[in-house]
Amino acid sequence: MSKKCLVTGGAGFIGCAISTLLADHFDTVVAVDNLHPQIHERASRPLALDARVKLVIGDITNEEVWSEILAQGAYDVVVHLAAETGTGQSLTEATRHANVNVVGTTRMLDAFVRHGAMPDRIVLSSSRAVYGEGAWKDNATGTVSYPGQRPRKMLEEKLWDFDGKSSLSFDARYTEPRPISIYGATKLAQEHILRCWTQSYGTDLAILRLQNVYGPGQSLTNSYTGIVPLFARVAKGGGAIPVFEDGAITRDFVFIEDVASAISLSAINGGTSYVPIDVGSGMTTSILELAKLISSIYGAPTPRVNGLYREGDVRHASCNIETARQELTWEPRTSLGDGLMKLCAWLDGSALSRAHI
Ligand SMILES: NC(=O)c1ccc[n+]([C@@H]2O[C@H](COP(=O)([O-])OP(=O)(O)OC[C@H]3O[C@@H](n4cnc5c(N)ncnc54)[C@H](O)[C@@H]3O)[C@@H](O)[C@H]2O)c1
Repeated sequence: MSKKCLVTGGAGFIGCAISTLLADHFDTVVAVDNLHPQIHERASRPLALDARVKLVIGDITNEEVWSEILAQGAYDVVVHLAAETGTGQSLTEATRHANVNVVGTTRMLDAFVRHGAMPDRIVLSSSRAVYGEGAWKDNATGTVSYPGQRPRKMLEEKLWDFDGKSSLSFDARYTEPRPISIYGATKLAQEHILRCWTQSYGTDLAILRLQNVYGPGQSLTNSYTGIVPLFARVAKGGGAIPVFEDGAITRDFVFIEDVASAISLSAINGGTSYVPIDVGSGMTTSILELAKLISSIYGAPTPRVNGLYREGDVRHASCNIETARQELTWEPRTSLGDGLMKLCAWLDGSALSRAHI
């Protein structure tokens, strides 16, 4: 029987990266995307979207768009990527984030019901943002607590870490989600909504909580996401990369191809896991280390730690990828060094092709 897959936000960074893997497996792949101007410099089909994928240009919050998408019946698998993703921006434009991430998700579910087009499986790309600052362990007693967002006073005094505590890697099996941004809260709401709905309708659900994804194809016009291309552009221009706080903020940078394989495996192989799956490289990197690696690729000056801070930035984010290894039979394959070389080569190429436009 012919197998159909729908990808919301399918013309974005991750959507394009999974498009060939999905088109190799499914008979029909449809992407719905409104080509959001903050992400898409030109409102046209991205070249990186596999030619076999049918693109429907439309907004997931619009009922009529759903009628068009579901006119030909149900999809076996839905990969739900469409979202507003600006963490900092979500604090000033909360309604916009809630509208797309929360209402967009419920509109999709209502449309499935209205058209009697329940999918067999939904894969949600959730985010590490659902954890906020995560859990910290007291160095003396071993007690685990959730200190929450770092207060402004603490940041003004340059007390970057919680005194006497060490942060723990996120692990969906043990770490309670405690978002500190509207974006994170809307991603958690997506998880809850989809869990309730899929349990009621007997649809399989997989929730993948992604860490910081980077790599070729990343939006170069969206200034609200993507520290890696931002740093690369400063270094490429011969500048010293400015590094916030004391340089010891940490993240898990996971290469786009590794994320694409995790999402595709989940879409193709099925299975319901009510425990979300953390997807990252499994490695922790400080922002200063990242800046030094990128500077060395371009021969740029030593990064400059500036002691500034951005409200809403979490201090540490990394994850345990054991569940992903087991549930998806998956392993991240690209080291940060190799991934950065590929990103920079792509950036250089894309700068050249822009110069010719
Ligand atoms: N990239 C990361 O580091 C990262 C990390 C964690 C989670 N995620 C999640 O992965 C998903 C995809 O992220 P991405 O990096 O590909 O982002 P992206 O911005 O490149 O892609 C999102 C796509 O959704 C589209 N879109 C936005 N609003 C829409 C709407 N109302 N209707 C239809 N389409 C809409 C955009 O045009 C874009 O093409 C998101 O759900 C995001 O929350 C990404």
